[in-house]
Amino acid sequence: MQGILKMTDQIIRDWREKAGKTYFKEELDEREPLVREILELKKQKNALILGHNYMTPDVFHGISDFVGDSLELAKRSRDSQADIILFNGVHFMAETAKILNPTRKVLIADLKAGCSLAESMTGEDVRQLRAKYPGVPIVSYINCTADVKMEVDIICTSANAVKIVESLPSDTVLVVPDGYLAQNIQKQTKKKIIPWPGKCMVHELYTEFDVDMARKSFPKAKIVAHPECKDTVTAKVDFTGSTSQMGKYIRESGAAEVLLMTECSMGDNLRSEFPNVTFISSCQTCPHMKKITLAKVRDALKYEQFEVTLSDETIRRARASLDRMLAVV
Ligand code: 13P
Ligand code: SF4
Repeated sequence: MQGILKMTDQIIRDWREKAGKTYFKEELDEREPLVREILELKKQKNALILGHNYMTPDVFHGISDFVGDSLELAKRSRDSQADIILFNGVHFMAETAKILNPTRKVLIADLKAGCSLAESMTGEDVRQLRAKYPGVPIVSYINCTADVKMEVDIICTSANAVKIVESLPSDTVLVVPDGYLAQNIQKQTKKKIIPWPGKCMVHELYTEFDVDMARKSFPKAKIVAHPECKDTVTAKVDFTGSTSQMGKYIRESGAAEVLLMTECSMGDNLRSEFPNVTFISSCQTCPHMKKITLAKVRDALKYEQFEVTLSDETIRRARASLDRMLAVV
């Protein structure tokens, strides 16, 4: 008991230090009891908490067992032995966890934490595309519903998109639902990519003008973008990659000044990992990711809500598309 209390105190100290790079002391004081309650519930219920890189620092640090990008978290959820997996991210991510580990109880703290990309396409849209382009393989970005996952041939993420497209034995490939990711893949492959016009409501806001202005204002800064940005934007930046690949780039490049063209919490979370790097804020907020708060996380564990459920048929077919990706990477 003494040991467990000591461990909790150590986690709290670490949480205060890291989240303290973003919040005032009073805000930490107010939230600390919630963090303690979550840590206790997590133990009681044998729950695993996964946190996407876009979680706010109070949710990202301390309570998460693992944090990362969509690909890393998908792998973690597949391998978990916990009774409950609480996914702090958006709904398609929690669905992916359920598909990869269907015997676990998978929870998300707010069912309305959606994604503009996932909402841009239905399973019926995929069936119509298949009828229009018979024999052309369909790759879906992991930011899609389980209904879309069950209809496509293979899934990709921002960390492996080009590799997945290259792995297919076809000169033409349909890439859905992110039109900008499709454009970015097209720049890196000789295959003909047929896109779907879905967009991330956060990353589509960045323009070439923003990059030009950033270069003028901060000539020494490395500019880093997510592949959900337009290809005209990614063409002008120093590095484009998944949320975790951004961290890796900063570590390996030794950059002293970084300007991130991605969701706001990414910079907040990286700031505590790289105290010697100056992060210039050029961020946009994802309203879906921001629906996950400490109070909702506590309630999710306390009341075991909101459970993500899928039919056996959906799980079986969506799993096949995910497994094909996981066999490549
Ligand atoms: P990552 O897989 O790069 O973490 O991206 C997920 C996402 O939703 C970015 O907007
Ligand atoms: Fe979806 Fe964009 Fe939000 Fe990521 S940042 S969850 S792609 S809306």
